[in-house]
Amino acid sequence: MKSSETPNPKAERLIDVAIRRSFIIPSAEIYGSPAGFYDYGPVGCAIKHRLENLWRSEMLQKEGFHEIETTCILPEAVFKASGHAENFSDPVVSCKKCNQRFRADHLLAESPGFIASGAKAEGMQPQELADAIRKYKVACPNDLGELTDVTRFNMMFKTAIGAGEERVAYCRPETAQGIFLDFARIVRNYGSRLPIGIGQVGRSFRNEISPRQGIVRVREFSQMELEYFFNPKYQTHPKFESVKGEKLAFELEDGTVSECTLAETVERGIVPNQIMAYFLWKQERLYIAAGVPRDKFRFRKIPKNDTPHYSRGNIDLVVDTSYGWIETVGTAYRTDYDLSSHAKASGTDLSVFVEEEKKKVVPHVVEPSMGVERMFWCVLEHCFREKSPEKDWEWFDFPPSIAPYHAWVFPLMRKDGMEEKAREVEALLRESGLIVYCQESGSIGKRYARADEIGVPYCITVDYDTMKDDTVTLRFRNDGKQARLKIGELAGKIAALAKEGKVNADFA
Ligand code: GAP
Repeated sequence: MKSSETPNPKAERLIDVAIRRSFIIPSAEIYGSPAGFYDYGPVGCAIKHRLENLWRSEMLQKEGFHEIETTCILPEAVFKASGHAENFSDPVVSCKKCNQRFRADHLLAESPGFIASGAKAEGMQPQELADAIRKYKVACPNDLGELTDVTRFNMMFKTAIGAGEERVAYCRPETAQGIFLDFARIVRNYGSRLPIGIGQVGRSFRNEISPRQGIVRVREFSQMELEYFFNPKYQTHPKFESVKGEKLAFELEDGTVSECTLAETVERGIVPNQIMAYFLWKQERLYIAAGVPRDKFRFRKIPKNDTPHYSRGNIDLVVDTSYGWIETVGTAYRTDYDLSSHAKASGTDLSVFVEEEKKKVVPHVVEPSMGVERMFWCVLEHCFREKSPEKDWEWFDFPPSIAPYHAWVFPLMRKDGMEEKAREVEALLRESGLIVYCQESGSIGKRYARADEIGVPYCITVDYDTMKDDTVTLRFRNDGKQARLKIGELAGKIAALAKEGKVNADFA
């Protein structure tokens, strides 16, 4: 499907770089690449896994939460109960001339008359959209044809389970539902105590009407979702006290932006409770660790009429990109909506017996939901560096914790035993758990450039001196300077530098 997307040279250039350097590959490319599907190439796949591991470490392991992996295909009954069968839809219009379909709110948001009005298309109801489309004379972006009325289109991919007696099923549009379905068994196995955090990383599927903006709005993507189940009587978080003075940048419903302490966000009712405030702070730490500068993102309070059907309060993390400010994390106070809906629809008790209160409680849920592709895109945008007098090539300033490799290893020349020695160094570093790659061809300058171009923080060169004294050069990506080290010290040194995020030679 053709989209109504307006040209964006900066973003298009970055997509081109990302494709040329094996970060991403349009899916099924030799068959014409259907819109909204991307593969990860070797470099992108490595970065994606490191982003996911960073999330695991920060959001699950450091919090003592559980990770599970649930199936992507679920029976229809799940989505009837969750409300997705009825509500998970976007507004669409078709062109009466060419029959192409578009997302009504996107078309409206891009029309000059509507932009000038200062209004927001997000969250408008179908009739409001239809009226505005007429008022601002929005037409088909292909052939200026007249548009139909606005209808709703359910975005779930439908499928069927089994041959013969087929059972209707859907590819999940969020990973969260699998967690709600497994909740009762997990909480029982872990002593039936609240609060409990359960998370997962996995694929989600949405048949987006206009996939667009590269990997920002796709039809198959990965989510990192945490469901924090708690007793609604206690809207507090045990770690809140230690972070309550930390500040976050908040964009409020009237569009103003201000720095608020976590304590203020709760006191002023910007966020519904301490729990949500605490997880917003965790997101801030995670985004900074992944290489997105603090002044390039903020938290946006979502107006009531734009919150999902299950939520009693939503805050998005939005990032400044060449596509404008985009939502990359959605945090929702889902209350007991999902557990109660599934309990009712399945006839299964999903409450937890609270010993101190001698009664059963249906837990409430706060859910921070992160999209991997959007985080990946923001990291690419904010770590991309142009050519400069110091570096005659474009490069990526990834923090070592998310770079695709810890280091690349080069023999200075492919002779006099240097190639074999470089292979030995590569094997030694791999044995110690580092992700390394031995690159033998091209001039040494070209190899440094290639490593910089995909953001490798350290390069190791085996040269003639190595053959005499077992030392190598360790080159630092950001300033291009070098230090000389014993091979035996390399693994420990690189691991330590990477852990501390040090990418300049003065730290050697
Ligand atoms: N479980 C709640 C949920 O799924 P959401 O705001 O619809 O909430 C959460 O999605 C995150 O998933 C978004 O903030 C975004 O990062 C990512 N996401 C959603 N739709 C996406 C799409 N079509 N392409 C890429 N990422 C998407």
